[in-house]
Amino acid sequence: MGAVILCRPEQTGAIISPEIYGHFAEHLGRCIYEGIWVGDAQAIPNQHGARLDVLAALKQLRVPVIRWPGGCFADDYHWRDGIGPVEKRPRTVNVWWREIEPNTFGTDEFLRLCENLGAAPYICANVGSGSPREARDWIEYCNFAGDSTLAARRGRNGRKQPWNVKRWGVGNENWGCGGNFTGADYAKEYIRFATYMRAMSPDIELFACGASFGDYRNPIQMEWNRAFCDALRRLDLVNHVALHRYFSRGRGLAFTDAEHYALFADALALERDLELTDAVLRECFPDRFVGIAVDEWGVWHPEAVVDNGLEQANTLRDALMAATVLHVFNRWAHRVTMANLAQTVNVLQCLAVTEGNKMFLTPTYHVFDMMRPHSGARFVPLQTESPTFEARPVGFDKKKTVPLLDACASLSGRKLHLTVVNKSLTEAVEARIDVREAAVASVTGKILHGDDPRMANAFDAPSRITARRIRHAFTSAAPTYVFPPNSFTALKLTLE
Ligand code: AHR
Repeated sequence: MGAVILCRPEQTGAIISPEIYGHFAEHLGRCIYEGIWVGDAQAIPNQHGARLDVLAALKQLRVPVIRWPGGCFADDYHWRDGIGPVEKRPRTVNVWWREIEPNTFGTDEFLRLCENLGAAPYICANVGSGSPREARDWIEYCNFAGDSTLAARRGRNGRKQPWNVKRWGVGNENWGCGGNFTGADYAKEYIRFATYMRAMSPDIELFACGASFGDYRNPIQMEWNRAFCDALRRLDLVNHVALHRYFSRGRGLAFTDAEHYALFADALALERDLELTDAVLRECFPDRFVGIAVDEWGVWHPEAVVDNGLEQANTLRDALMAATVLHVFNRWAHRVTMANLAQTVNVLQCLAVTEGNKMFLTPTYHVFDMMRPHSGARFVPLQTESPTFEARPVGFDKKKTVPLLDACASLSGRKLHLTVVNKSLTEAVEARIDVREAAVASVTGKILHGDDPRMANAFDAPSRITARRIRHAFTSAAPTYVFPPNSFTALKLTLE
């Protein structure tokens, strides 16, 4: 099977926000507790309570941003429960995930973790069951530099200097678990919350809950963004509108060939989500930029349910889907300002799985590692001719033609980064890589692949699916490269 990837590195687009490669950690199942935070459990090596193996893995990725504390949990979280001496913190009920919340991981623990990782914190405030005062006080506690009681309290809790948290979410999924609002009612609440949050820290960036079009027939979702943005037109109170998109086709390990291909076709549903959101933003805010933050996304298999803390298999197929979705965000670099994979450790499409003092990395982790060169680089549009398949994306009436090879490029200095997914279950695709207006001096690369997309890592086989170096990618004189089936390839082309 043959393909052509045509690239003109002189014609670049927007800078790819590093925060497109962000993550999300919720108080849910074993994501925070066990996965990230082990407190003073001596048996698991840790630094101030955060497990060292996970810290090292996240440091290697240079995680740019972490969203916390939820998710649905955020709109039932009261931040004062999670500060001060640990023994005095209450045990509360996590209503959404049916657990007891010990509150031993709270604001200061989260912010110390982010500082240690060099990641920006993105905190989601409680709109559903909270108040504007509680949200504004949280910002005072984190950011106020003067002599206030809350700032002094932060000092007594070990942090004199302000944390300077810049990114604040105003509720989560407020059309659902965040209070079951309509778009217009949420807009009223948002304006009240955002007014006082912004007044407390004028330089913060505010993220609104946007529609998430899981079902394009849901009228609340379809009207949400317009009602919200209409009400915000004349107020400079919103910097980003959030969007969530989860993907599901078959089970984690058991799926048909048709489900395999349909999963990849569902990336078109995400593109439609972005187009719908973009259209409203353009119309309501013609003179200023409001970004789209896809602050929850990932593959969510049906076996991940509340009873098992939303845990699921994490296979090569999921990793290839992550690469496909990250390509969409790169192509939308002109509008997508942030994206956060759900959820960092143990839960849903995670980067790492832990058990006691053991940990392994999922194939998705390696995709994020291999994609890193795109972060902060300039997007380069490609023209790709590839063999195709047909599938009906979720929410669409008709089948769509989808390319088997999904390629994406970016440029930093004279380095052209080219990443390619081959979604085929069976066929290698030989592509001619046609770089115009520049000579290619050398090519290096890495590949992630396996014979079966169901392949996964495990405690006794942690490197079954891992990135391997490609020795001879291709040369200028013979610019063809064979992309194996079920593969993700990252190539670095040095241009003369
Ligand atoms: O990521 C799991 C849940 O999915 C989040 O808490 C919620 O925002 C979404 O529905």
